[in-house]
Amino acid sequence: MKTVLTGIKPTGELHLGNYLGAIKPAIELSKDEENQYAYFIADIHALNNDVKRKEGAINELSLKIAAAFFALGLDTDRCLFYKQSDIPQITEMSMYLMNETSKGLLNRAHAYKAKVQDNIINNNDPDNGINMGLFNYPVLMAADILIMDTDIVPVGKDQLQHIEITRDIAQSINNNYGEIFKMPEARIEEKTMVLPGNDGRKMSKSYGNTIPIFSTEKELYKNIMKIKTESIALGEPIPTQNSIIYTLFKAFLNNEEMKEINKQFEAGVGYGNLKKNLFEVINNELKEKRNSYYELLDDETYINDILIKNQSVVRNIAQSKLDLLKYKMLNH
Ligand code: ADP
Ligand code: TRP
Repeated sequence: MKTVLTGIKPTGELHLGNYLGAIKPAIELSKDEENQYAYFIADIHALNNDVKRKEGAINELSLKIAAAFFALGLDTDRCLFYKQSDIPQITEMSMYLMNETSKGLLNRAHAYKAKVQDNIINNNDPDNGINMGLFNYPVLMAADILIMDTDIVPVGKDQLQHIEITRDIAQSINNNYGEIFKMPEARIEEKTMVLPGNDGRKMSKSYGNTIPIFSTEKELYKNIMKIKTESIALGEPIPTQNSIIYTLFKAFLNNEEMKEINKQFEAGVGYGNLKKNLFEVINNELKEKRNSYYELLDDETYINDILIKNQSVVRNIAQSKLDLLKYKMLNH
């Protein structure tokens, strides 16, 4: 039995990119009862950017992530689902891990390096707007992973470096203090495509081009109608390459269902018709889930009960790993 763990940051309204790139694959994976699953809301990580947040924003987004996972079908009887900030052992462990992490390793971490680069380009002080939460981000992430004896970490490609840093830290501790940590492995879903937003760039909250997962039917329709398309005469074949609409169809339909869509592109049924069709496809997948999502959001007690139940289970697992690490490091 292997432990599969992943975290999601409560930093924005969930969109279709998050759904197809992270949440849906995590839920699909958890259907394999051979393994055990630990999914969590990485709310402390959400503090490391220097944006202005409105009061309560992180908690509100955390609740929405929990409601989304439950509405989209996570089996909470079999899978652990918790909030990072509810498990103080994680932050405590990160302090120990820091003492086995060279500063140079963290200097090379992408998220930090990109921020520094940005500052240099804009003639700012290199460390402008960078807090220690961001600099230490990979160490906290290592604690998230190592404290649960994780074997497999499903993540997007951008997170690969963080898993490598986690392995470096674990290896160094195991070398110096004896076998304490398992070596986690990243699982990158090669076939998960990068979903484009309504302007063709990667769908991302940073670009403001997202289609929210749980918008109302009307909003979803409006959002799909807004997708940029070039003008092509009715009856002319519509190119599928680099087509946002085509990529979205592909993300939601299987190969068999795509045959019909391919025909429609070839026949040149017009973007208006294709968009209506796309709306139906996405709406069909999300309709019932949307209703459960809003019912769950109205019932905070239900969500909190699950988080509290898991909190004590995870704290126990985490405490025994932390105790072992403390014993080994402090008695060495
Ligand atoms: P954003 O780009 O909106 O800030 P995050 O970086 O918070 O989203 O991503 C959370 C998760 O969703 C990550 O696992 C990421 O790989 C996935 N994800 C985000 N946007 C997309 C996208 N457009 N296509 C596929 N996966 C995505
Ligand atoms: N850093 C991840 C992201 O930005 C979120 C995350 C935090 C995570 N801790 C984790 C993912 C541990 C996997 C394992 O998407």
